[in-house]
Amino acid sequence: MKKIAILTSGGDAPGMNAAIRAIALEAFQNNVEVYGIIDGFKGLVNDNIIKLTKKDVIDIISKGGTILGSARLDSFKEESVRIEAFNNLQKYGIDTLFVIGGNGTYMGALKLSQLGVRVVGLPGTIDNDIESTDYSIGFFTSCNTIVDCIEKLRDTSSSHHRLALVEAMGRYCGDLSMRSALASGADAVYTREHPFDKAELVKLINQKYAEGAKSVVVVIAEHLLDINALAKELDSETPYEARATVLGHLQRGGSPVVEDRVNATLMGSVAYNSAKDNPNPFVVGIKNGSVVTIPMEEALNMDKNSNNDFYELVKRLN
Ligand code: F6P
Repeated sequence: MKKIAILTSGGDAPGMNAAIRAIALEAFQNNVEVYGIIDGFKGLVNDNIIKLTKKDVIDIISKGGTILGSARLDSFKEESVRIEAFNNLQKYGIDTLFVIGGNGTYMGALKLSQLGVRVVGLPGTIDNDIESTDYSIGFFTSCNTIVDCIEKLRDTSSSHHRLALVEAMGRYCGDLSMRSALASGADAVYTREHPFDKAELVKLINQKYAEGAKSVVVVIAEHLLDINALAKELDSETPYEARATVLGHLQRGGSPVVEDRVNATLMGSVAYNSAKDNPNPFVVGIKNGSVVTIPMEEALNMDKNSNNDFYELVKRLN
């Protein structure tokens, strides 16, 4: 490797900067030139590419978001657009491209690699929906933010004897909702993996009321149902006043927690060092506590087996 480039793509995630930093600092150790691509594949296509120095990356480990910017580029599915991106890499003499993002980012990178550039993927998304890693960069920080918000909602809900419905992000993966519900002592959690059962929820709420609970907190994964409509229904069908809170993009911001900084740094370092001897497209991930490398195509074909399924536990311990 002589010249490498790094891009972040898809939804930003806390810890992406820690990964950029680790890859770049490993490269500088080896006197390799490092380029930053601004706004993901969009910047690659539009030749928005800058040379990075040690100064640019040395103190970014604690910064939320991504210093390189991010974007989603649907047109990257078209070969003509990818050829423009490839030509720009050629123009700078970049031989290896590190991409930090989710499954869509991996797919774009794999297609790009077919034109003749080495690509390496790092899992960066709060959603934790990437099959080839137990934990994606950003997941833990987002969980902490959600837990913090739920605790605040618990305070005000208890003061007002209310039912709080909280919608968490995750796209179509329930990991953020599950882990946050468990960690915040929520009374119930619903995700796509565990379909919503209104009768069951009403029964639980009535039972909590009979036990004298000051509040009830229910976490619901996004894309499952309309929580505002549900709050209206439960407001009239249960003894509690109900309020709905969609946490939204707050869940994506903030300084990364230690786990995300460590995971990002370990994966960034392994990604760089493994790329030296591996010309084929691959990704890095955390599996059973260790950093592993997996061929990119294989990673994209893996089934998501959640190791974060705490549904029964949340149900039992409410
Ligand atoms: O993939 C990260 C994520 O935050 C998802 O949890 C969410 O569904 C989506 O991105 C939101 O996308 P946008 O920022 O484009 O609204």
